[in-house]
Amino acid sequence: MLNIDLRGKKAFIAGIGDDRGFGWAIARALHQAGATILVGTWVPMVNIFTMSFNSGKFDESRRHPDGSMLEFANIYPIDASYDTRDQVPAEILENKRYKDVEGFTVSEVVQKVCHDHTSIDILVHSLANSPEIKKPLLETTREGYLSALSASSYSFISLLAHFAPFMNPNSSALNISYLASEQIIPGYGGGMSSAKAALESDTRTLAYEVGRKHGLRVNSIRAGAYGSRAAKAIGFIDQMIEYSEKNSPLQRAIQASEVGNVAAFLSSDLASAITGTIIDVDCGLHAMGVAVS
Ligand code: NAI
Repeated sequence: MLNIDLRGKKAFIAGIGDDRGFGWAIARALHQAGATILVGTWVPMVNIFTMSFNSGKFDESRRHPDGSMLEFANIYPIDASYDTRDQVPAEILENKRYKDVEGFTVSEVVQKVCHDHTSIDILVHSLANSPEIKKPLLETTREGYLSALSASSYSFISLLAHFAPFMNPNSSALNISYLASEQIIPGYGGGMSSAKAALESDTRTLAYEVGRKHGLRVNSIRAGAYGSRAAKAIGFIDQMIEYSEKNSPLQRAIQASEVGNVAAFLSSDLASAITGTIIDVDCGLHAMGVAVS
């Protein structure tokens, strides 16, 4: 029997803030396949996330089909918009949710992870942020646009650049993209469509660079619409899900676990020749040329 076997592998997943997003679903799948899970949680969410986890709020969604529970070896507070402490603006350092948190920039988190675990085998980037997501691109400010690119695209380059020297050969890095990278999705604003286009382009270039330099693989999962916390903030996710149910070849929307399963495959040795690739996990919606409903 051919199984996805991630036993002995360590995965760092950046972008888990509750049990309703793709990061959580990916953690579940990788853990079920045997990987040790290390989590990076955005600084403003880390207290509530850790408290909820410890209080048992997530117990139902932690449970695997065999009755065992999803476990995290560590939860690291991270803000992937900053690489080093000297880049962090004073008002962030003084913010009540940041001021008592040590070492939350990318370089500091990578240092902590490598101090605790020496190396990793799987890097997952499941995060995005745009302060002006509800604004059309035409009305997006330079600051808002660059902030979306910084948090949603450059953060992947930075995480990979810092982790790469500590990733074992044949390791895998993954990010989560969206169809708005190359097709018009009205309302997906604030520079987020541009950020996803950059993320996909960077996936190819980085696959070449870290493939040659470190023997690593880099891929992107382009996920269909799903009602996570971040997606609900955009405001029209329910219509996108309904659109998928009516128009995708499979006539349904995706489940987060389907993204998790593909992430587990791509992170495994079964995908050893796959790199620089964008894989659509959207019930085939990307292939439709016209709406049928
Ligand atoms: P989510 O809300 O579960 O995950 C986004 C995470 O990013 C949150 O945990 C948030 O705290 C974190 N985050 C935001 N800014 C951060 C920063 N500066 N540093 C560190 N973490 C930060 O939502 P979801 O939807 O699971 O998002 C995960 C990825 O999937 C994102 O890249 C998103 O664009 C992508 N995606 C989502 C789709 C959807 O319909 N939900 C469709 C296609 C892609």
